[in-house]
Amino acid sequence: MKRSKGLDKRRHTAPPANKVVISVIQQKGGVGKTTLSVHLAHLIADLRPKWKVMVADADPQGSALQWVERGQAQGHTLVDAMAIAQDGEGKKLRKELEEIDADIVIIDLPPAIESISLRAALYADLMLVPVGASPLDIEAAQAAVNVCYEAMDLDPRKKLLLVPSRVRTGTAAARELRPVLEEWGQVSKATIALRVAYSDAAVGGEGIQSYAPQSDAYREMAYLTREVLDIIESEEA
Ligand SMILES: Nc1ncnc2c1ncn2[C@@H]1O[C@H](COP(=O)(O)OP(=O)(O)O)[C@@H](O)[C@H]1O
Ligand SMILES: [Mg+2]
Repeated sequence: MKRSKGLDKRRHTAPPANKVVISVIQQKGGVGKTTLSVHLAHLIADLRPKWKVMVADADPQGSALQWVERGQAQGHTLVDAMAIAQDGEGKKLRKELEEIDADIVIIDLPPAIESISLRAALYADLMLVPVGASPLDIEAAQAAVNVCYEAMDLDPRKKLLLVPSRVRTGTAAARELRPVLEEWGQVSKATIALRVAYSDAAVGGEGIQSYAPQSDAYREMAYLTREVLDIIESEEA
């Protein structure tokens, strides 16, 4: 009998040979960058137990760092976090990234397309752009996508993945989002819906895999994570 492919299939594969950098880029605040960064980090660490995962918080507000530190204080040690680019521009970002002791680094960026976002795009293997479903969200995302295009012009091996984020499922706006994004680049098959579990998990510093492992939130974040891992691991091959 054919075994069904488990949603949360863990692979004890060795870490990537070279450190992988994922930058989560968006000019707009409140679109879900931090939420995506931290949950994705936890899911990668959960699905790839041999990999060391670091959340690098480039936002002076430090919400990703605080999230992970709250969790560590409660004994959740799946991922690590640190502040990065504290000059606000990321002039030393390349060196900072080199010095991080991790197999994969997820950079959570501040809500502004300034030099820091461009640098984070330049040094990324994969750029994730979360986009909300309203016309204003879509308009705002164009600036982030342009930054990614610039970086891809310089290094065509770089990948871009657009991620529908904080989407109210079943609405007309939600249905119209995907075709627009597909004109811009690769869109994740997973849609990150507006779900209270994502924000509630932050309170105790958890990732969705420990906060609500049986939930739809977990399933959709795991789906996205496997897409991200597919991209990373195909690069490796
Ligand atoms: N998919 C989601 N479902 C529900 N709430 C979300 C979701 N993504 C983000 N949020 C909430 O929306 C707010 C902004 O999200 P955040 O991740 O901080 O955005 P950003 O980092 O882009 O400013 C936070 O209160 C967060 O908890
Ligand atoms: Mg944020």
